[in-house]
Amino acid sequence: MRSRWLDPQAEAAEPQLRALRPQTLEEFVGQEKIKERLRVYIQAAKARGEPLDHVLLLSPPGLGKTTLAHIIAHEMGVQIKVSSGPALERPGDLAAILTHLAPGDILFVDEIHRLHPKVEEILYPAMEDWKLPIVLGEGPHARCIELPLAPFTLIGATTREGLLTTPLRDRFEVVFRLEFYRPEELAEILRRAAPRLGVGITAEAAEELGARARGTPRIALRLLRRARDVAQVQGLSTITLAVAQETLRMLGIDEAGLDELDRRILAVMMDRFEGGPVGLETLSAALGEDPETIAELYEPYLIALGFIRKTPQGRVATERAYAHLGRTPTRLV
Ligand SMILES: Nc1ncnc2c1ncn2[C@@H]1O[C@H](COP(=O)(O)OP(=O)(O)OP(=O)(O)O)[C@@H](O)[C@H]1O
Ligand SMILES: [Mg+2]
Repeated sequence: MRSRWLDPQAEAAEPQLRALRPQTLEEFVGQEKIKERLRVYIQAAKARGEPLDHVLLLSPPGLGKTTLAHIIAHEMGVQIKVSSGPALERPGDLAAILTHLAPGDILFVDEIHRLHPKVEEILYPAMEDWKLPIVLGEGPHARCIELPLAPFTLIGATTREGLLTTPLRDRFEVVFRLEFYRPEELAEILRRAAPRLGVGITAEAAEELGARARGTPRIALRLLRRARDVAQVQGLSTITLAVAQETLRMLGIDEAGLDELDRRILAVMMDRFEGGPVGLETLSAALGEDPETIAELYEPYLIALGFIRKTPQGRVATERAYAHLGRTPTRLV
């Protein structure tokens, strides 16, 4: 089994990472355009004494959607209830949560692309008019009544924008797409986090780790913890450049921040499919990996680096990818 290095679930087992979550917009590094707009929307909603408009957060895993949802609640000074698409199995599950919200509260629904259609259906009127449709009785005598709800804000998050239904997407007034972070932003996150993990870090070390963290704060923070281990074993209280480099070497992370599976994905595309185009299912089968893992955790960054291009016929490995692996394309790509 390969390492669960990129696995978002692994974070649950790392309470220290959760403790590093920024609490305010001020502490949230990067995503400047999103923060600027949020500040205005939050200030305006507060001044009007109204709930914030519904917000949809889109991004690959680990870029800060959950963190941002909690920050919004904190800045609005309201309660946040957390749920997720798969957890809301029946309409009644959602109804139970909605009817307990106080005015202005936030309902955060993670993995919102995985809502059951029946649950999604009752979410529409709740989002539009703060009303919950309830069917009383069955058969010819059934009647529908509408239960008024407290005005609330829905914050939805997903890593799979393409799997959202159009009616749901259209009901969000605000849509934020979080981008991969720049290396210097990740370095900044690491410099702030290190003291809270009880370790020092030099500027060069923070830059080195930040540059190889796939543009993702969660990965950067994991690298930091692994580097802290290496420093500790070497009897150092500070993560130096040498410690950072040793950590990256040990983890098999290359100059571009790619790990072993990234490189295997590219190599298989080149060796077995002449660089593509190859479909996701075919590629996953050839790799013996779950297609979701590839699509969600690996592909977005390989695309952002310009190593993979998506075409209507499938994925294609670019010349840049060939160069990175030190190979020559077998044919023109
Ligand atoms: N802008 C940021 N500044 C500082 N730390 C951040 C920032 N964004 C994310 N983090 C940290 O990175 C980690 C991952 O963030 P978060 O859990 O919010 O990502 P996510 O987008 O919800 O991921 P997933 O899609 O897997 O649910 C958290 O520990 C968080 O503290
Ligand atoms: Mg999350």
